[in-house]
Amino acid sequence: MKIGIDKMSFFTSDLYLPMEDLAKARNEDPNKYLIGIGQSKQAVIRNSQDSVTLAANAALKIVDDSEKEKIDLILFGTESGVDSSKSGAIYLQSLLGINSAASGVELKQACFGLTAGIQMAMGHIALHPESRVLLVGSDIARYGIGTLGEKTQGGGAMAMIMSANPHLLEIGTESAHLTKDIMDFWRPLNRSEALVDGKYSSEEFINFFKETFENYIEKENESIANFAAIIFHLPYTKMGLKALRSVIEDLEDQKVKERLLERFEESRYLNREVGNLYTGSLYLSLLSLLHAHSLKAGEQIGLFSYGSGAEGEFFTGRVVEGYEKYITDETVAFLERRTPVSVTEYERIYRSFMEPQIDDCETEFEKDPAPFILKGQKQQQRIYEKQQ
Ligand code: HMG
Repeated sequence: MKIGIDKMSFFTSDLYLPMEDLAKARNEDPNKYLIGIGQSKQAVIRNSQDSVTLAANAALKIVDDSEKEKIDLILFGTESGVDSSKSGAIYLQSLLGINSAASGVELKQACFGLTAGIQMAMGHIALHPESRVLLVGSDIARYGIGTLGEKTQGGGAMAMIMSANPHLLEIGTESAHLTKDIMDFWRPLNRSEALVDGKYSSEEFINFFKETFENYIEKENESIANFAAIIFHLPYTKMGLKALRSVIEDLEDQKVKERLLERFEESRYLNREVGNLYTGSLYLSLLSLLHAHSLKAGEQIGLFSYGSGAEGEFFTGRVVEGYEKYITDETVAFLERRTPVSVTEYERIYRSFMEPQIDDCETEFEKDPAPFILKGQKQQQRIYEKQQ
């Protein structure tokens, strides 16, 4: 049975910060951010959005009335969860009106959480071929104003439906994993901002990629020439380019090298516009690649997922015939409608983030045009609402 991704959608804030402006404000050469880091814009997440509302806004685009009845499992990947106990999947089920016979859980392993969901969904659908699984990866990447990581912030959510006989990508059953206890990036329970050893994390990203890629090639008797594209988790888009270069630099076949570089450029287009979105990042890159419509039916792509701490997985997918019909310009049009903010306004919004607190509070939800918003909290319960 063929199992894979049937539908995909993306949501982020209606506000962004031009990276050139951030570079100037931090007395850096804009080309360091635009080329050296590979980011053009950074999503500025309003205080009326959290991982639950971002996920609900993304999923709303693909969960119609018929899906609400059919979905039997909700897998919510995040490292920006809003409660230590209650899963974001329950809020999502309620906000979207998904039938109450569906089960749902939250999955956490840094940026790897959504990929863990992909593997769980594969097994679930293999046992229940009629199943339709809703997966979301939803996060806000915060490092702090003026920190080294600031230029790699961002946020947003990817939503996907997985099923048998999918319309977009069949996922391969084999993969290569690597798990190691390292401290490259982490976020203690008392913080909304990550702590990171930036250079070390970037080195480990490449080490994890090379090891899982080489293991996969060896155990599946594969060749790099059989991949139409290799795509990555993109904490900043230059990271993926560096990882790709590490396996193509010695290639003699220039055509394969050029093809992989061309496809990589297509796969980073949307991520350049948003910044890091942690769990959703690899899948935004997949959407970006599919959006270019350059892949042909049946072609194989490699996907590298990395979650700090750390876990890496290299797995594969095959593009389904006719996928182009289902990948519209909606995401690009949505990103083009956003409004730029100044560095001063970004800093104000950043500081207004709803940190865990005991007191009742209200967000600036009236300014937010998103369908689902976080209004604030009362008696330590978050108040969500759908705007008309
Ligand atoms: P930095 O140290 O300020 O930057 O921050 P740099 O000095 O390393 O420069 C970056 C690049 O710009 C370099 O290129 C420079 O040469 C180049 P590279 O050597 O990398 O090829 N450069 C220029 N290029 C063009 N024109 C210029 C110019 N000047 C310099 N004028 C750092 C970089 C990544 C350390 C920082 O942003 C950071 O700490 N970010 C957060 C951590 C991160 O994203 N790590 C990535 C791997 S870990 C991961 O992916 C997991 C994660 O998503 C979390 C999770 O799993 O949950 C983060």
